[in-house]
Amino acid sequence: MNRNIVCIGAGYIGGPTMAVIAKMNPDRKVIVVDINKERVDAWNSADYSLPIYEPALVDVVKEVRGKNLFFSTDIEGAVKECDIVFVGVNTPTKMFGKGAGRASDLQYWESTAREIKRFANGDKIIVEKSTLPVRTAAAMEAILNDHADYEFTVLSNPEFLAEGTAIKDLLEPDRVLVGGPQTPSGIAAINEVVDIYAAWVAREKILTTNVWSAELTKLAANAFLAQRVSSINAIAGLCEATGADVDEVAKVVGADSRIGPKFLKAGPGFGGSCFKKDVLNLVYLCESFGLHTAAEYWMGVVKMNDHQQERIVSRLFKEMFNTLANKKIALFGFAFKADTGDTRETPAGTVARLLADEHVRLTITDPKALENAKKDMADLDGIVYELDEYKAVEGADAIVLMTDWRHYPSLDWQKIFDSMRKPALIFDTRNCLDGAKLKDIGFKVLNIGK
Ligand SMILES: NC(=O)c1ccc[n+]([C@@H]2O[C@H](COP(=O)([O-])OP(=O)(O)OC[C@H]3O[C@@H](n4cnc5c(N)ncnc54)[C@H](O)[C@@H]3O)[C@@H](O)[C@H]2O)c1
Repeated sequence: MNRNIVCIGAGYIGGPTMAVIAKMNPDRKVIVVDINKERVDAWNSADYSLPIYEPALVDVVKEVRGKNLFFSTDIEGAVKECDIVFVGVNTPTKMFGKGAGRASDLQYWESTAREIKRFANGDKIIVEKSTLPVRTAAAMEAILNDHADYEFTVLSNPEFLAEGTAIKDLLEPDRVLVGGPQTPSGIAAINEVVDIYAAWVAREKILTTNVWSAELTKLAANAFLAQRVSSINAIAGLCEATGADVDEVAKVVGADSRIGPKFLKAGPGFGGSCFKKDVLNLVYLCESFGLHTAAEYWMGVVKMNDHQQERIVSRLFKEMFNTLANKKIALFGFAFKADTGDTRETPAGTVARLLADEHVRLTITDPKALENAKKDMADLDGIVYELDEYKAVEGADAIVLMTDWRHYPSLDWQKIFDSMRKPALIFDTRNCLDGAKLKDIGFKVLNIGK
């Protein structure tokens, strides 16, 4: 067994994860492959115009690309050259047939497994990096080992990084999880993968479990995080109705050491490619095993999230004299969170569509996500995309701040107010601006949970 690593899938997971693994394991060759040539070319671009934006990612890639990290479309060559095969292909929510709208679409995973089997030239360890439903590894092992010339051991090594802090999370993880069969060959394979991480992660933070626990843990961890967001957002609505302040409530609730302060920030709801998909997947799993009450419980987390975005538009509607038609609204931020250009499942997308239904004249500004916003909204005519915030607000009736980009609080809010139509409204859905200062300038200010 050689020490080389291939990762199939050069996306938000494959790219950053493998860059850090290569940096911390200079004696291993790491090859990241993808069927998307455009993406691979961007990873290889001379001027480092990488296909995704993550703070510090470009520095890591500059350090290791061409030394022991390579990006390629040659899947066959890479599988032949490496005995450890990570798979980080996409697993979107299935939109057809059985489990539509809930289950994971495993077609990319299965075709990858079949490719690995076709190209293999020796025994391989297959490592699930994608988030997959419980027992996928067993199904994959059955496909791979059926009439096979070589032995394939399938492990689960779910990734817990968060976009926006991916490099930091990879360098200083809370924990690394490697699940595998509890057989002698399974345990040997687990140890091979543990060794990769042990190059920089303390051994006590590298947890090993059976393969199904590992698969379920990833879904459970995301469901717990999503549930906290929905819980605080459910309290936010009540705060608005009663005069309580959600930030005050969250601060005191989070001071309880049993609860903790993180992930208690009220806002426009969670986004990103993972939370909704993974909670829906958990709902589907519960339903499949006849656990209908558990399924309903988790479904409530997703419903609450959708409701939060509807509530934002309802409040705007009410505050803007019950008509939004032909009014100009500028959305500040389209990425699902700060420090990423990722717009998958972004709350801003839902709010933009609800506003478009009301015939609002929409302008979208975002420092990193405008190209993705254009693609996401391509079916809607008339949206203006503007990088410069000051131009975006000219003549606007309202601003809806959707992403908490760090520089937004220090914009020249007087200049912005002066160029807007009056009354000028700002809805800070992240509660990140200085509301008192904005009121002094003359804005009508709306917040979440206040
Ligand atoms: N994005 C995150 O923050 C995050 C965090 C933890 C886990 N995950 C999980 O990781 C997985 C990947 O997510 P992502 O955000 O990186 O997705 P992504 O869409 O950014 O990347 C997936 C890549 O796989 C490639 N691909 C698909 N089929 C292929 C094939 N047969 N051969 C080669 N390449 C193929 C696609 O072209 C794409 O570039 C998902 O299961 C996701 O749930 C993502």
